[in-house]
Amino acid sequence: MNYDKFYSNGKPTAEWLVNHISEFKQFKNLSILDWGCGTGRIIRHLPNVVDNSNSFFGTDYNQKYVKWCAENLNGINFKLNGLKPPLDFKENSMDIIYGISIFTHLSEELHFEWMQELRNVLKKDGVLFLTTHGDVHSSKLLPSEKVLYDAGNLVVHAYKKEGNRLFASYQSPEFFKNLCLKYNLEILKHIPGEITNSKPQQDVWIIQKK
Ligand SMILES: C[S@@+](CC[C@H](N)C(=O)[O-])C[C@H]1O[C@@H](n2cnc3c(N)ncnc32)[C@H](O)[C@@H]1O
Repeated sequence: MNYDKFYSNGKPTAEWLVNHISEFKQFKNLSILDWGCGTGRIIRHLPNVVDNSNSFFGTDYNQKYVKWCAENLNGINFKLNGLKPPLDFKENSMDIIYGISIFTHLSEELHFEWMQELRNVLKKDGVLFLTTHGDVHSSKLLPSEKVLYDAGNLVVHAYKKEGNRLFASYQSPEFFKNLCLKYNLEILKHIPGEITNSKPQQDVWIIQKK
């Protein structure tokens, strides 16, 4: 673990996130939630990237991460959630929810449950920013799995318990588009991942609750 790299890499990610969302929302007086905040890699930088008229929240299902964040990161309100919904936030309370590499560790059943919950907690016109394992990751699939992926399905590699980073799911764009459609969420932008420095990047989805 390179702690310096982990810390310094969070700031450009926070800036990258804000740049993308700024196309659709002005960062003034917003409630912003990092769903699956981990050890706060991104959310810890947000108060310095956008102005302090905004309120910052983080949530994760890993008790140790949430405890550490709550004890060490000021100006951000952290909560614990379960592997399954709900979140400990009111309906229609968030302007922005982002989840960086969270759906990538969930089963199909929880894709449905979480999309419904994220929609509930988001305000009308709120923005959801999510990342998935799209086409550039599909080379990790077996030929039989690739057929399923290409037909618009979710493919899951359940090497560990759901939620763990070794439980990996692959969201074909068609699957994810249909998921948004099912919950009446409008896709504002889909940016397919590219290969950067020989590493496949995740797809980005910017979505709005109508
Ligand atoms: C790959 S890490 C990404 C962490 C963080 N988003 C980042 O970019 O640094 C995945 C995170 O998702 C969390 N996670 C997995 N399933 C979750 C769930 N159902 N609800 C909330 N967090 C979850 C894990 O505990 C972990 O912190």
